[in-house]
Amino acid sequence: MKKILVINYSQSGQLNEIIDNFLIPFNDKQIERVNIFPKKVFPFPWSSQEFFDVMPESVLEKKIELEPYHLKSENYELIIIGYQPWYLSPSLPTTALLKDEKFTSLLKGKPVVTITGARNMWLNAQESVKEHIQKAGGELVANIPFIDRNTNLISAVTILYWMLTGEKGKYLNIFPYPGVSEKDIKGASKFGEIVFEAFQNDSYHKLQNKILDLKLINIKTDILFIELRAKRLFKIWARIIINKDSNYKKRAIWIKLFKYYLLVALFIVAPIVLTVYNLLIAPFTFNAINRKKEYFCGIRKNKNAGRLHNKNF
Ligand SMILES: Cc1cc2nc3c(=O)[nH]c(=O)nc-3n(C[C@H](O)[C@H](O)[C@H](O)COP(=O)(O)O)c2cc1C
Repeated sequence: MKKILVINYSQSGQLNEIIDNFLIPFNDKQIERVNIFPKKVFPFPWSSQEFFDVMPESVLEKKIELEPYHLKSENYELIIIGYQPWYLSPSLPTTALLKDEKFTSLLKGKPVVTITGARNMWLNAQESVKEHIQKAGGELVANIPFIDRNTNLISAVTILYWMLTGEKGKYLNIFPYPGVSEKDIKGASKFGEIVFEAFQNDSYHKLQNKILDLKLINIKTDILFIELRAKRLFKIWARIIINKDSNYKKRAIWIKLFKYYLLVALFIVAPIVLTVYNLLIAPFTFNAINRKKEYFCGIRKNKNAGRLHNKNF
């Protein structure tokens, strides 16, 4: 019987729930489900300092230690990787998995599906995951991102409330629920049906198109705009902060500075810049924007995808 490995980390359980629903149409007997855990547990809820303190290592994709995990086989016909972005990068446990030879050796020559449980910014993280899969010799055949569909600012407020209190409830009773909606979590089985059919037929070449045909995955222009710029800035901050590593107090000060920078950039600068961009520039770059959205919704890997002015895709 053909076997499928499904592997992921989930801190709050949201990604586990998405994957549980995604797997409903599959045959249980073919599935091996593995949860990975970091050796040093990340707090949940986070304190504000801890939440921002994982930025440098996440962005620079430092390898942390994972608890040992057991795999029943060395050969799976399909591998499904679930992950969440942290600071526009794969979460630290995910990076550790993607750098773990025990795992990457399984990917060679195999179809791989990625499932993302994000706030709304998963484009850069997925570029990185694509690269890891490609390097290991795997073939990405589908990517299914699940996001919070509220506006960027609302979802930023609600996710901070969720992450810093541990409550997936309505902040002040005014804001909507944080994270991926119940409807989308339950709806994950629709994607599962399509992937399971491809798996049974061993035919993946039109899989991503079929997934996109559901019209449930789209990228908003403001998110594309931010993602194409912010990762470069995060990398600058990350390198400065990593250099302060030997001095805990200095690092703590820089993390605080980054936190205020991020809050100002997100809640003040981005809305102003985006208003100007949407009024004056976006209408004239409609085709280029659509080409970029199409690229990020796909599974191809273009080395220059992150470049702002690359006209080749
Ligand atoms: C430290 C941290 C950074 C995050 N950064 C991002 C991000 O850059 N983009 C994004 O869409 N979501 C981001 N999120 C949200 C996560 O991707 C994820 O949706 C949420 O943490 C729930 O995942 P879980 O299943 O692991 O609990 C971040 C979460 C944490 C804890």
